[in-house]
Amino acid sequence: MSKADKYQEIYKQVESVVSDETDQIANMANTAALLHEKFGFWWTGFYIVKGDQLVLGPFQGPVACTRIGFGKGVCGTSWERRETIVVPDVHQFPGHIACSSLSQSEIVVPMFHADEVYAVLDIDSKELATFDEVDKEWLEKIVNLPLIC
Ligand code: SME
Repeated sequence: MSKADKYQEIYKQVESVVSDETDQIANMANTAALLHEKFGFWWTGFYIVKGDQLVLGPFQGPVACTRIGFGKGVCGTSWERRETIVVPDVHQFPGHIACSSLSQSEIVVPMFHADEVYAVLDIDSKELATFDEVDKEWLEKIVNLPLIC
């Protein structure tokens, strides 16, 4: 099964799971679980905007940093730039925050509500260059499903 096919399946599953539930935390939790299980990523989770920081939300994987400032790390930079950031090698990203020394590549996708970033999806891989345009396209579609917002 191709990566795009896997995302297509997950998209339908997330759509179905969130259609019965309006609670954002519950929907983030199941979305993280579906992505993490299907792809076997190292860490899959959400950081939620609270004031001038991102605070750790629902996730799957090892213990992670709890707070990230605006413009800090890959997550805070994605929030500041309001765009998805694909990092093929985290050691080459200035200011990368290493919650786990095993993480090698990463993608961070901002989530919008009323044109404001209210959270980001962060996924880490233990391999270099795991993420590309296919991940970007599908993850943006998945996390911006209307019932998550
Ligand atoms: N690497 C992220 C921090 C979060 S952990 O990867 C879970 C960053 O640089 O923002």
